[in-house]
Amino acid sequence: MSNRYILAIESSCDETSVAVLKNKTELLTNIIASQVDSHKRFGGVVPEVASRHHVEVITTCINDALVEAGIVASDLSAVAVTYGPGLVGALLVGMAAAKAFAWANGLPLIPVNHMAGHLMAANQTAELTYPLMALLVSGGHTELVYVPKAGDYRIIGETRDDAVGEAYDKVGRVMGLTYPAGKEIDVLAHKGQDVYNFPRAMMKENHLDFSFSGLKSAFINLNHNAQQKGEKLALEDLCASFQASVLDVLISKTKRALSQYPVKQLVVAGGVAANQGLRERLATDITDVEVVIPPLRLCGDNAGMIALAADVEYEQGNFADLSLNAKPSLVFESMVLG
Ligand code: KG4
Ligand code: ZN
Repeated sequence: MSNRYILAIESSCDETSVAVLKNKTELLTNIIASQVDSHKRFGGVVPEVASRHHVEVITTCINDALVEAGIVASDLSAVAVTYGPGLVGALLVGMAAAKAFAWANGLPLIPVNHMAGHLMAANQTAELTYPLMALLVSGGHTELVYVPKAGDYRIIGETRDDAVGEAYDKVGRVMGLTYPAGKEIDVLAHKGQDVYNFPRAMMKENHLDFSFSGLKSAFINLNHNAQQKGEKLALEDLCASFQASVLDVLISKTKRALSQYPVKQLVVAGGVAANQGLRERLATDITDVEVVIPPLRLCGDNAGMIALAADVEYEQGNFADLSLNAKPSLVFESMVLG
């Protein structure tokens, strides 16, 4: 049997990434060109700057990926690309590159949902077995996804306002930390105590949705009041209190989802899955199912995860033609509890 090689391109936000996957699970290369240094001084991703950087490096990334993988274009079976959700200008750069490459080399094009990519990165840690539950936590999304079978992603709960990563970055900004602040808050949280007891929104409610804007406001108000009184708050305790509130909510909603949907595996993925506090809580609090978290290097945005999700689409014959358009607000189908 001949080998199956899929080249995948990811450019939905501030990472330009190209990967080559061999035979379902073997990532031969996963080149990630991060632009984060260009966005830091603005305290967040500037869409125009992101698109311009993608244009500058995408061709080099594709060429380098083929060289690192030790293959040529004619060895490939398909080209995969993230078509949403994400920043429209950023997505379009990756899509233009993927379409041109697919057309020039006579290859099928596989459209991939970025969040499916985050989820499928977990398959580098353990073989995924269906049905499974996923908690997806990133800069733009916070959702509980039930996956009855490979490639069938159903949202059963999601944030009604801010995403978790977004909340981390916003409170980080209030504390004067560098964007993106998630990792630094996680480190500081481990040195402090939950003394501020911030609200745990919707934790007792029976649905599976989340809300983080109240927590963010409580955090901002506390800091604002302290500033007006000339008081100095301990950074470590602020971080520990914020993180404790986030984790209590994430864990309790995940437990509720697991009690409503019988599964054997829980995947936790997305940029915030790199959080050590979250990993510790999962280890102590989720004991009935196998918890599968992608390796740290595959938690943030990368094309390796897109290739892994693309392989499922390849198996199911889900290809697109060159009229494929970017879908900045692409969502999984939702599933209401029946
Ligand atoms: O998945 P990702 O790389 O990009 C999106 O698709 O959004 O997620 C980026 C987010 C940022 O908000 C960042 O602050 C957060 O992931 N993040 C973390 C940690 N590492 C990254 N949040 C909490 N703890 C971390 N260790
Ligand atoms: Zn992402």
